[in-house]
Amino acid sequence: MADIPVDQMTEAQARVELGTLAAAIAQANRAYHTLDAPELSDAAYDALKRRNAAIEARFPTLKRGDSPSDRIGAQVGEGFGKIAHSVPMLSLENAFEDSDVADFDDRVRKYLGQETTISYTAEPKIDGLSLSLRYENGVLLQAATRGDGEVGENVTENARTIADIPQRLSDAPDVLEVRGEVYMSHADFAALNERQLAKGEKTFANPRNAAAGSLRQLDASITAARPLRFFAYAWGALSNPLALTQADSISRLNRLGFQTNPLTVLCSGPSDMLAHYRLIESQRATLGYDIDGVVYKVNDLALQARLGFRSTTPRWAIAHKFPAELAWTWLEAIDIQVGRTGALSPVARLAPVTVGGVVVSNATLHNEDYIAGRDAKGNPIRDGKDIRIGDWVQVYRAGDVIPKIADVDLEKRPDAAQPFEFPHICPECGSEAVREDGDAVRRCVGGLICPAQAVERLKHFVARGAFDIEGLGAKQIELFFNDPDLPVKTPADIFTLAARDAANGLRRLKNRDGFGEKSTTNLFAAIEAKRLIPLDRLIFALGIRHVGEAAAGLLARHYSTWENFESNITRAVEGSPEWADLTAIDGVGAVLAGSLVAAFQTEAERAAIDALVAHLSVQPVVARAPVDSPVAGLTVVFTGTLEKMTRAEAKARAEALGAKVAGSVSAKTNLLVAGPGAGSKAKDAEKHGVKVIDEDAWLTLIGAT
Ligand code: IVH
Repeated sequence: MADIPVDQMTEAQARVELGTLAAAIAQANRAYHTLDAPELSDAAYDALKRRNAAIEARFPTLKRGDSPSDRIGAQVGEGFGKIAHSVPMLSLENAFEDSDVADFDDRVRKYLGQETTISYTAEPKIDGLSLSLRYENGVLLQAATRGDGEVGENVTENARTIADIPQRLSDAPDVLEVRGEVYMSHADFAALNERQLAKGEKTFANPRNAAAGSLRQLDASITAARPLRFFAYAWGALSNPLALTQADSISRLNRLGFQTNPLTVLCSGPSDMLAHYRLIESQRATLGYDIDGVVYKVNDLALQARLGFRSTTPRWAIAHKFPAELAWTWLEAIDIQVGRTGALSPVARLAPVTVGGVVVSNATLHNEDYIAGRDAKGNPIRDGKDIRIGDWVQVYRAGDVIPKIADVDLEKRPDAAQPFEFPHICPECGSEAVREDGDAVRRCVGGLICPAQAVERLKHFVARGAFDIEGLGAKQIELFFNDPDLPVKTPADIFTLAARDAANGLRRLKNRDGFGEKSTTNLFAAIEAKRLIPLDRLIFALGIRHVGEAAAGLLARHYSTWENFESNITRAVEGSPEWADLTAIDGVGAVLAGSLVAAFQTEAERAAIDALVAHLSVQPVVARAPVDSPVAGLTVVFTGTLEKMTRAEAKARAEALGAKVAGSVSAKTNLLVAGPGAGSKAKDAEKHGVKVIDEDAWLTLIGAT
């Protein structure tokens, strides 16, 4: 839409646009200064500032308290700056059983269509925190923590104090991002805790917490005094490959001056991998640092490239975790927590017990069936033993996950212990809690009238991936939710907070505990900056059941603008054309669609959404930047036998090049790739006049020959 010339603007138009400009400029400042990831060109940024100034000059009384004309740059955020990773930092899929390792190898070979043995590296999985180090022309420029995998914290100054991290490299690629794990040895951890005790300062629960706490110090001199170490095991951006295989790349990193794990070996298939797993497991106690499993990676980097990635994990690697750590303790009480979607979750309150170095006093009990000793299908678990308050129970922890109750010792059960009666009434709001057919979970039907659901929704609303408002986390939400003077009960209330605080010149917030002039100003600026919000984040932030981050992205790309999304979802009752359109989105099923449409039909939900959106300027989301490839945008069908690649690989590659892969031929199909033995699909193609090519022609088309 073309801008309205400033001299033709009405006062109302000016007021709205000054708000939008303030938000857009604040967002651009944050992207530039805090995230180090500019979103606007200098020219576009200057144009926004100029337009803002011109409108203010014509309507001086409308100048906002937070006018961008009065600010230079962004507030430098408290804490660390952010660094956007040029290549995302991924996590690993887990394997627990030996059979999972064989399955992994099967999947890899199937994907690649290779029957012969594949070589894998096997190495310890270090229990620390991952770090990405960027070197340009051999000089260490940046160090970033993993963060959410896309954006991490800038800990460069701290990383420079770690002896295992070289400041300069010779003979390295011009651009080299080295990734690995920061950790602390057992001996250094024990000594650190002793020093902390002697100084009357807090001690750390385990070496990993100590490493994380030490790296994330705002004062680098504290990090320098902490004995941190680093193992390199992967890489991000690279101007030239390090080598042709994983093993040789790791050796190259070692020659460049990085510590690499001496227990890294090359294995030829699952039995070799499992043998090395046993060897590493047998040395675990004497290694002198914590490891929590073994990581296997396809050795040939060309195969790694073919295998590629799922959304957050590579297809070419897996972490084989060591068995969980166990301990026994008394179950003192069972509390029921009510979550964002109304789920009643039972939580075990335990007599504190150390499980693998961490003191545990809470554990999840999953759901009512789990407590009763049966699974979702009614089959017995723990031989059908139920769990009662007063029982002697076995607790286990597997890696980072919340501790769980695995077993109960009936011999120690007190005589008075009674079976646990799972509530059918929400303990928070008194609404009925119902369990729908096929759902393992009992849910409070109170929706937004349930204070527990309302507050959990708000926490979700401000969380990472959603509005991600700096200075407004779960803790502050709890405080504001119960605040008699400045209550925040719904997302819309967040955006009226500053105005309510300033009303009658009271400015109460800055005199509160935990708030001062500066933190209040920062909080309001952070809220203000989020008035401009991309559509996918908004959809995710609504906290609608089954609508996670990935689904929100799909919906946003499909509907593009809020207006379009809102009007379509409002009309998408089952059977309507809008419903058909919604459920035709690849990745949107009937359950998700039903939940989304129901939320828009529920009066209280709808009112909360409308009230919120009135405060926002929602940025349209354009469909993924069209991939520049000859097949981008085409709908392709594969049929018959493919000889140079498997179906899975063909599909993944076509999709990576921007094509849509369909299962059957219709008038919408652009291309049929037919191998030998193509049957009815070839006939369908003829009927619809769809072009048919063979596998070689396809490979030539996508430039893969
Ligand atoms: S490879 C693309 N190798 O485990 C995959 N990760 O659960 C890159 N980790 O975020 C990771 N030891 O922090 C790899 N030898 C190792 C590792 C390792 C520890 C951590 C890493 C990663 C997490 C995934």
